[in-house]
Amino acid sequence: MIPAEAKPVSDLLTFYVESGVDAALDESPANRFAEPAAPLTAEPSPRPVPVRPRAEARPAASAAGTIAAPPPPEEAVMAARAAARSAASLEELRAIMNGFEGCALRTTAKQLVFGDGSPNARLMFVGEAPGSDEDQTGVPFVGRSGQLLDRMLAAIGIARSEVYIANIVPWRPPGNRDPSIHETQICLPFIQRQIELVGPEILVCLGKPSTATLLGVSDGIKRTRGRWLVYRTETSEIRAMPMFHPAYLLRNPIEKRFAWRDFLAIKKALAT
Ligand code: URA
Repeated sequence: MIPAEAKPVSDLLTFYVESGVDAALDESPANRFAEPAAPLTAEPSPRPVPVRPRAEARPAASAAGTIAAPPPPEEAVMAARAAARSAASLEELRAIMNGFEGCALRTTAKQLVFGDGSPNARLMFVGEAPGSDEDQTGVPFVGRSGQLLDRMLAAIGIARSEVYIANIVPWRPPGNRDPSIHETQICLPFIQRQIELVGPEILVCLGKPSTATLLGVSDGIKRTRGRWLVYRTETSEIRAMPMFHPAYLLRNPIEKRFAWRDFLAIKKALAT
């Protein structure tokens, strides 16, 4: 039984949870509207690249008290492309992404979730977006999905530390909602550059959003999983395979037999 004096607080918390706010990031609330508007930089600079910082999620109040319009997504995409291209190493790319303010998701996420694993990996996995555990730790695929992925890798004799794992979108969408098309397009140059810098022999797209975004195949994952496709960088072609996302396998354990088949195909391909 909630005491009467605690009811307003309880109602407020319920409202937050229903609105998708499920984690407290700071001890005290921040008034985003009170923050000064940062300068708009349309011209991409090597690093970091502010693209009218945080305007989508933190609209800046102008002197007249009106809310500034968010920057056009195309502008943020162009800035992301220029910034990603300028990274000569994974560490440079991480620093650039940490400073990049063109994607509104960073304002609600706790931190950047950059890729994890061996920078020389022969096998790379790309998921959709970090969840709560990843947001807390800054490491991709550490929650239940990630633990299943680790176990499936171990089953074919591969340690997680030997592969490289990243996401299309490196900031957690609030309440685990799907990333929007604009958010995905803004983040795309960063994952593309990450793939180029790792240069894996095999790229695995976990789930439909990753498959559609990186391989341009929008058929359902039940149709595409297990098929060998090609991922093209500017300079090379990488063998790519869509697979069921581990989160889907957790909900549909019967489908693990197909994932097993796909992992065996990957093991065989790595052995040749
Ligand atoms: N799901 C994803 O797609 N990525 C993660 O990092 C975790 C869960």
